[in-house]
Amino acid sequence: VDVGEVNETTPRGHGCDARREECPRCGTALGDGARTGCGCCGLAFERPAARAVIDVLAGTARERDAAEVERFYTASPFPGYAPEDDGPALLVRSRRSAFLHALDTAIAPAARVLDIGAGTGQLAAFLALAGPRRRVVAVDGCRAPLALAEGFKRRVGLENLHLVRADLFALPLPVRAFEVVVSRGVVHHTPDPKRATEAVAARVAPGGVLVLGFYESWARLVHRARRGLGRVVGRPIAALDPVLRRADLDAEKRRIWIEDQYHHPLERSLAAPEVEAWLRAEGFEILRTVPPSPPHGGLFAEAAPAGRVAAFTRRARWAAAGPFDPDAGLVCIVARRRSNA
Ligand SMILES: C[S@@+](CC[C@H](N)C(=O)[O-])C[C@H]1O[C@@H](n2cnc3c(N)ncnc32)[C@H](O)[C@@H]1O
Repeated sequence: VDVGEVNETTPRGHGCDARREECPRCGTALGDGARTGCGCCGLAFERPAARAVIDVLAGTARERDAAEVERFYTASPFPGYAPEDDGPALLVRSRRSAFLHALDTAIAPAARVLDIGAGTGQLAAFLALAGPRRRVVAVDGCRAPLALAEGFKRRVGLENLHLVRADLFALPLPVRAFEVVVSRGVVHHTPDPKRATEAVAARVAPGGVLVLGFYESWARLVHRARRGLGRVVGRPIAALDPVLRRADLDAEKRRIWIEDQYHHPLERSLAAPEVEAWLRAEGFEILRTVPPSPPHGGLFAEAAPAGRVAAFTRRARWAAAGPFDPDAGLVCIVARRRSNA
């Protein structure tokens, strides 16, 4: 799908009410009756009702890999909601995560935030709930997880969360337009992680921050061994997996975790130094990597290890933490686009 790129640095909606529904591409306010496209820039989409998902992929055929990934997440939308989830429960649970708490406290109260590959949208919903003046746009290529996000948004009345179905390789969003872009657990599930990283990074405004989470090749070593052993015995070995060992994991979340971690059709691991080099080439400076999560408010402060020994030690630590890592080797790079880049 070629929806074209808008090379504005500031979307027209900036400064407006964060709850206002806008065309994702040009920022024009969408009237309740706009069901099939934007009258201003001509972007075609389906939108069955006001405040519903804006579906830019409706009626289009997806490429083979994207279609396979979409089939996978249709059967197992990730990460999924617990039946009792409501606004306060999501806030409390998210703030228990050192990373999510640090992310929330680092983001300005009225920032434009974009989550690419948002899945069922918990992270985006959390940031929208915690900052009612933020405009949070959550994009995913798959309808099923977005439908769960939409259900949650409706239940909670979360009007500053905007849901868009689109492919990250053809995003109907202006470039350099968001103060914070998050993409966690996505680029390694595409056929071209470097191009995916560039597409995600392109949406970060000058001076803005990218939080890019991916399976790091050393950090993922233990999980790959665990998955290999599981294949030999014919099922995942729960005793070796810190998530499957959790007593409070409900049956559906357990099933989704097993699918995501043990049966994914398209997954790669990436070396952190290589991803950092891609980002530097796009005009970013590397602020830090997570884990470890920094103390409150420090997520966007510069703390990248200097030199090869420090970089080696950091990866060796991730590998050694593998047996206990609840994220199974997911590492985030936090990077800032230079104001002149
Ligand atoms: C493992 S889930 C991550 C969900 C969420 N970011 C999180 O951290 O829980 C990966 C998500 O990326 C989406 N995705 C994969 N390839 C995509 C693409 N080319 N365009 C848009 N979304 C994509 C999938 O549909 C899926 O919902």
